Amino acid sequence: MRIIVTEDYQSMSRKAAMMVAGQISLKPDSVLGLATGSTPIGLYQELIKMYQAGDLDFSKVRTFNLDEYYNLSADDPQSYHYFMYDNLFNHINMKPENVSILDGMASDFDRECREYEKAIRDCGGIDLQILGIGVNGHIGFNEPDSALNVYTALVDLTDDTINANSRFFDSPDLVPRKALSVGMGVILRARRIILLASGENKAEAIRETVSGLVTTNTPSSFLQLHPDVNLIIDKAAASLLDGELIRSV
Ligand code: PGA
Repeated sequence: MRIIVTEDYQSMSRKAAMMVAGQISLKPDSVLGLATGSTPIGLYQELIKMYQAGDLDFSKVRTFNLDEYYNLSADDPQSYHYFMYDNLFNHINMKPENVSILDGMASDFDRECREYEKAIRDCGGIDLQILGIGVNGHIGFNEPDSALNVYTALVDLTDDTINANSRFFDSPDLVPRKALSVGMGVILRARRIILLASGENKAEAIRETVSGLVTTNTPSSFLQLHPDVNLIIDKAAASLLDGELIRSV
C-alpha cells in the first residue's frame, strides 16, 4: 500500500487526477471504476479542467460505477446516475454507451448484478478503481458485517451510512435503506486502486485500513491484500497514522 498524504482536499484531488490522467494517457481505452460521494468531486473537477485544456481524451474510456441506490431512477437528482452526469460525464467527451451504472430500478436485481459483472469481465476487467471510504470503513456499499459479498448484490445500508448520507436529503426518511453495490471481488480484482479520503472524520477508518487487522468489520482492511493500492489522503485523514508509513507530498 502506498500512502500519499497531501496538505488539503484540493491537493489530494489534483494528485489523484494526475494519476488518472497518467492511466488514460498510457491506455486510452482504460476501464475505470468510479465512485460517488463528496470525496471524488474535486478529482472530477480536475479531470474536467484537463479535458477542457485539451490534455485528456475520454472518447475510448469505459467506466463502471461502484453502486446505485435501490429504487431511485436515473433522473432522480439523488441517484448516482444523476451525480455522475452532473459532476463528470456532462462535461467531458465520454460516450454514453461506454458508461455503466447499476440500475436501481431493475425488475430483476439478481440478473442486473450478474450482467454487470459479466460486462466488467467482457471489457477485460477494471484497470483503475477509484474508491472513497465510509466512516465505518465501507468501500462501495460493502458494509461492515460478519461476512462480505464477493459478488455484486442488493445490500442493506447500515445506520452509520444512512446517517452519513442523510446530509444530501431533505429528510432522513427519504434516505434509501438499500443499494446495489459491486462486491469485494470486483474491487479486489481491479489492477490498480486509488482510495481517496479527506477530513478528520475519516482518520479512524484510514488507520484501520492501513494497520488494522484484516476483518469484515472494516471492509477497507481487505485492501491490505491487494498488490497495487494507493491511498491519497489529506493530512486530517492521515492524522491517526504512524508517521513512518507515510510519504508526504
Ligand atoms: P463521502 O462518502 O465521499 O461522501 O464521504 C464516501 C463513501 O461513503 O464511500
